[in-house]
Amino acid sequence: MTEIASAPTPAHRPARRWDPVVKLTHWSVVIAVIANALFTEEGSGTHVWIGYALAAILVLRLLWGLIGPAEARFTAFPPSIGRALAHLRDIRSGRHVEHRSHNPLGALMVYAIWSCLGAVIASGIAMAGLPGQARNERSDTAVSASTEIERGEDADEGDEGGEEEGALGEIHEVAVNLLYLLIALHVAGVVFETRRSGREVVLAMLPGQR
Ligand code: HEM
Ligand code: HEM
Repeated sequence: MTEIASAPTPAHRPARRWDPVVKLTHWSVVIAVIANALFTEEGSGTHVWIGYALAAILVLRLLWGLIGPAEARFTAFPPSIGRALAHLRDIRSGRHVEHRSHNPLGALMVYAIWSCLGAVIASGIAMAGLPGQARNERSDTAVSASTEIERGEDADEGDEGGEEEGALGEIHEVAVNLLYLLIALHVAGVVFETRRSGREVVLAMLPGQR
C-alpha cells in the first residue's frame, strides 16, 4: 500500500484517482442494491435478473483487482487489522497520511461489503438457480400460478425442499440486513473521511475526475 505522510491538502481536491471501471462498478452495484431493496418484488424475475447483473459486476470488479491499475488492485489495499489500528491511532492523533487507494479502515469495509454481497448472491442463486435454469422466479406482481401448481405437485418432496428454501431465504435475508448495516457504516465513513481530510472523497468516485 502506498502511503505518503502529508499536511492536509486543500478542500475540493479529489482524494484519489479511480479509473472508470472502479467508478462504473461502484455505482452499478449501488443501483442494483437499491433496485432490489426498494423497487422489485422479492424473488421476482426482475429481482433475480438484477441479481445476476450484480454478480457479473462483482466478478468484473474482483478481476480488476488482479489486473487493473495500481490503485484498484487488492495489493494496494490489503485487509490488515494492524494497519487499521494504526490508522485509528493516526485519526486520534490528528496525523494525516495520504493513501493512494482505500485507507486501511476503508479497505476492511470494502472486503466486508464484497463478502456480504457474495453471500447475498450465493444464497439468491441457490434459491433461483443459474441463468437458463431458473427455478424460483416469480412474476413481478405475485407468485405465478404455474409456480403454485409446481409447488403443489412437488408436495411429497415439498417439505424438505421447502425447508431448504426456507433456510436459504433466511440466509439471504440475514445477509441482506447485514449488507444494509455495512452500507450505513460505509456512507458514515465516507462522510467522516471527507470532513477529517478536507478532501472531496465522493467527487473522486464521480465521472470526469481522474
Ligand atoms: C443486494 C441485492 C439484493 C437484495 C437487497 C435482495 C433482497 C431480498 C429480500 C429482502 C428478500 C426477501 C427475503 C425473505 O423474506 O426471505 C429477497 C428474496 C429473494 N431474493 Fe433477493 N436480494 C438481492 C439479491 C438477490 C440475488 C443476487 C438473487 C439471485 C440471483 C436473489 C434472489 C432472491 C430470491 C429467489 C428470493 C425469494 C426468496 C423466497 O422465496 O423466500 N436476490 N431478496
Ligand atoms: C448500495 C450502497 C453502496 C455500496 C454497496 C457501496 C460499496 C462500495 C465499495 C465495494 C467500495 C469499494 C470500491 C472499489 O474499490 O471498487 C466503495 C467505495 C466508495 N464508496 Fe460506496 N457503496 C455504496 C454507496 C455509496 C454512496 C451512497 C456513496 C456516496 C456518499 C459512496 C461513496 C463511496 C466512495 C467515495 C468510495 C471510495 C472510498 C475511498 O476513497 O476509499 N458509496 N463503496
